[in-house]
This record gives sequence, structure tokens and C-alpha cells, in this order.
Amino acid sequence: MTRILVTGATGAVGVHVVRELQARGATVRAFVRNPEAAAARLGDAELAAGDFDDPGSLRRALDGVDRVYLCAADGPRKVAHETAVIGAAAERGVERLVKLSAMHADPASALPAYRWHGEIEAGLRRSGLPAVILRPAFFMTNLLMVAEGVAHTGTLYAPTAGRPVAMIDIRDVAAAAAVTLLEDGHAGRTYDLTGPAPITFAQVAAALEVATGAPVRYADLTEEQARPRFEGAGLPDWLAAHLAGVFGVIRAGGFDRATDDVREITGRPARDITSFARDFAAAFTPATALTT
Ligand SMILES: NC(=O)c1ccc[n+]([C@@H]2O[C@H](COP(=O)([O-])OP(=O)(O)OC[C@H]3O[C@@H](n4cnc5c(N)ncnc54)[C@H](OP(=O)(O)O)[C@@H]3O)[C@@H](O)[C@H]2O)c1
Repeated sequence: MTRILVTGATGAVGVHVVRELQARGATVRAFVRNPEAAAARLGDAELAAGDFDDPGSLRRALDGVDRVYLCAADGPRKVAHETAVIGAAAERGVERLVKLSAMHADPASALPAYRWHGEIEAGLRRSGLPAVILRPAFFMTNLLMVAEGVAHTGTLYAPTAGRPVAMIDIRDVAAAAAVTLLEDGHAGRTYDLTGPAPITFAQVAAALEVATGAPVRYADLTEEQARPRFEGAGLPDWLAAHLAGVFGVIRAGGFDRATDDVREITGRPARDITSFARDFAAAFTPATALTT
């Protein structure tokens, strides 16, 4: 019986990875910091309590494990955390590790999270572990950060210069992770995961308008207009810098290409913005419309 350790199991993508694996009949062990809180979200998955900063807990969690899904939170400890999992997995001799990375991962990147992913990918290659690297584009769920603003003002503001983004639904990222963990033929591959087509934020606004039944327009911001929004949002400095940098990549056309990798891996087309907008419509809907 193949047992899969899912790290970051309570994370936005991790929760779906656990579900996708269970739906395919896999035996899942979830590495979690707080088992009580995790149990409510992860159903009947086996839980291994631990912390990336506690090497003993990682070794215990990996006991009897054959394959690993790797995802730690973004932040200054990310490289140390994921490197600790890679080291423990290599020591254990796991047969496959699937790493959630990011498009534009590069150890020389000026964007913190892309740099961290690049450093971790390099370490993973050095480890010699049979690995699959998933590099998703911009997540559709990033739009939830501005959902309240859209609901209040009917306006989606962003500094995209009208450039399209092949944004992806995290449920497709999770499905790709589950398939590459379970099925053979993926080791050594790096996949660029995107939605079905590059779309502009004006098209996102149109999809939200249809889904919510309330008017939504797109207003483009210049880089200068957007900067105080990132800097004043109460985010850690690295995250404000990273988000501002991501929109710079968008304006340079860095996400304007869709790939067929989701379909190639899962056998199904990637979800589009219409389906995301329908499923998350409540978050973008004015409270008055919800109560009437
Ligand atoms: N947003 C985008 O557009 C985008 C695009 C491409 C790639 N990505 C990448 O996607 C990844 C984020 O995935 P996600 O959203 O699923 O992550 P997430 O929601 O941030 O979840 C992070 C997970 O790590 C766990 N964790 C944090 N510190 C830990 C510790 N010390 N020990 C053990 N577990 C710990 C958290 O557990 P708790 O529940 O205990 O906190 C949580 O399960 C990032 O690497 C990001 O760069 C994002």
C-alpha cells in the first residue's frame, strides 16, 4: 500500500490535495501543526502532528511513507522548512516527492517567493530524489484578497496595464498534484500549470458581474497608484514587495501564455474564470444583494 505524506495539508491548496488523493483511494497522512483544527478540515485523513522546525516530528511523520507532497507557507522560513522536508525525505529514501513551486521560480529572482522556490528547486535537484515540480501561474483565489472591495465599490482595481493572465484555479493545481503523486511517468518533469486561456482583468470583472448579478467594472492602476495599496495593506514587507513584483511580471507579459499541462496530467481541461466566479460569487456580492 502506497502511503503519501501531505505537508501544508491545511493550506489553501493542501486541503484540496488531501481530498483529491482520498477521492482516488490513496492512503493519506497529513502533516499538521494543530491536529484538532486540522481534523475538522481534513475528514478521516491520518494526522501526523509536527512542525517543520522540529526534525524529529518530520522523521516520525515520514516513517512508512512512500511519497511526499511538499508545500510550506511563503515567508522567510520557507527555504529552511522545505529543505528540512527534502532532507528527511531523502534520508528516508522516499520514492517520489511532488513540490508545489511557482511559475518564474528562479534563485536569482528579485521577487522573494520566486527566489525561495528557485532555491528550493535547486536543493531538490541536488538531493537526487525522484521529483515532480509543479509551477502554477497566478492563482484565481488571489482575487479573493480584493473581493470585499469589489463587493463594496463594484470596481476591480489592479495594475495590469490590460495584459492578460493565464490564471489557474487551485483545485486544478491540487488535481495535478494528486495525479503526479499517484501515477507513474511524471518523475523528473517540471510542469507549468495555467488556466485554459490568458484573460484580462476586464474579463475577470465581466465574469464576476455575471456571477454576482451586480455591476463590476475593471479600473486599471498605474504602478505608482498601486504602490501605496500594497504598502498600506498591513502585509509583511516581503509580501507587499512580492505582490507588487507579481503585477510587474503581469505587465511585462509574464503570465500571458496558457499551457495544456493541466489537461495533459489530469485528462480534464482546466477550470475557467466563469466556474471560479460562480463558485465564489458570494465573496464578491454586495451584502445588500445577499440579504434581499
Ligand atoms: N498565490 C499565487 O498566485 C501562487 C502562484 C503560484 C504558486 N504559489 C505558491 O503556492 C504556495 C502556497 O500554497 P497554499 O496556498 O496551499 O499555502 P498556505 O495556504 O499558505 O498554507 C501553508 C501551509 O503550511 C503550514 N505550515 C506553516 N508553517 C508551518 C510549520 N512551521 N510547520 C508545519 N506546517 C506549517 C500551514 O499550516 P497551519 O494551518 O498550521 O498554518 C499550512 O498548512 C506557496 O509556495 C506559493 O508561492 C502561489
